[in-house]
Amino acid sequence: MKKIGILHGKERSFPQALAARINALNEPGITAEPVLINQVVQGEPTAYAVILDRISQDVPFYRAWLKNAALNGTAVVNNPFWWSADEKFFNNCLATKLGVVVPRTVLLPSKEMPADCSAESFSNLAFPLDWEGIFNYIGWPAYFKPHSGGGWKNVYKVRNREEFFKAYDETGQLVMLLQAEVVFEDYYRCYCIGGTDVRIMPYEPRNPHHLRYVVDRPPGLPDLLARIERDVLTLNHALGYDFNTVEFGVSGGVPYAIDFCNPAPDADRKSVGDENFNWVVEAAARMLVRKAQAHQPGGSNTTWGKFINEAAAGPAKKK
Ligand SMILES: Nc1ncnc2c1ncn2[C@@H]1O[C@H](COP(=O)(O)OP(=O)(O)O)[C@@H](O)[C@H]1O
Ligand SMILES: [Mg+2]
Repeated sequence: MKKIGILHGKERSFPQALAARINALNEPGITAEPVLINQVVQGEPTAYAVILDRISQDVPFYRAWLKNAALNGTAVVNNPFWWSADEKFFNNCLATKLGVVVPRTVLLPSKEMPADCSAESFSNLAFPLDWEGIFNYIGWPAYFKPHSGGGWKNVYKVRNREEFFKAYDETGQLVMLLQAEVVFEDYYRCYCIGGTDVRIMPYEPRNPHHLRYVVDRPPGLPDLLARIERDVLTLNHALGYDFNTVEFGVSGGVPYAIDFCNPAPDADRKSVGDENFNWVVEAAARMLVRKAQAHQPGGSNTTWGKFINEAAAGPAKKK
C-alpha cells in the first residue's frame, strides 16, 4: 500500500477535498490521508510514498522533517531543499536567463542590521548605497517588497524617494526588493501542477480579496494566453516546482512575471471560486497519484528543476 500524506496548516477546504478525491479515484494500492508526525528519528523513513507540503514555509520543524523524508525516498512536493534555497530575487535573476520578461528589480540590504552584527560586520557593503543610481534604474512609482515573502505582507507601492525611505524605515531586518511598477491592463494568476497542467486564471488584484477572481475583462487573446502558458512552464521546469502559481501583469501586450515563488499557493475554495477549486483538486490529485505510482523505494523521488540539474552536470561542453 502506498500512502499519500497531506501536510497542512489551518486550511480546511483544499486538503480535505484533495484526500477525498484521491481516495475516490480508487487507484489500486494508493490511499491519501493527513500526515501524522510523532517521534522523529534521524535517518528513518516515514510511512508515506508521497507528501504534499502546504505549510513548512511557516513551520521550520516540518521543513526539517520533510528533508529527512525526501532523503529516505518520499516524493516530497514541493522539494524542501530547493524551496529552502529559493526566493524572489533569485527567481527574477533566473527569469532573465530564461527569456521570461520580469520588471527591473534590485536587491537591497535590510534597513536594520541582522542580530549580532555591527557596522564592522559590513566592510564589504558600500555606504551609502548609490541611491540615485538605484532610483534612476527602477523609476517611480515602484513596488517595494520582501525578497522572500508572500500573502501581500510588507508590500508597498512607493511614489518617490520620501515614500521609499519612510517604508524602508518600517521593514526592520527584512531583505527587500525594489521593483519597477508594471502598469498592467490585464493580470493573470496561473496554477502549474506537475510541470504539465496549467490553469490561467484572470485575476484582479485591485478588487477586495473575495472578488479577485471575478474579473470584468474580455478573455485574453490566444497569442497572449499561449505565451503565458509557455512562460509558466519554462519557469516551473527551471525551478522544479510540482505545485506553484505564477502571476503576470500584462503591459502593452507583454506578460511580466511578477510573483512566481509560491510553492504553497492559496487554493481555498472561498478565495479561488468553485471552478478553479475543482480544477486544482483534480490536477493535484492526479499528479500525486502519478507520483505514488512512479515511486521507487529507496530512491530519490523528489523533483529537482532544470536549473539544478544543469548546474550539477557541470559546465556545458563546447561542441
Ligand atoms: N512590480 C509590480 N508591478 C505592479 N504591481 C505589483 C508589482 N509587484 C507587486 N505588485 C502588486 O502587489 C501584489 C502583491 O505582490 P506580490 O509580488 O505578488 O507579493 P506576494 O508574494 O506577497 O503575493 C501583486 O499581486 C500585485 O498586485
Ligand atoms: Mg502574489
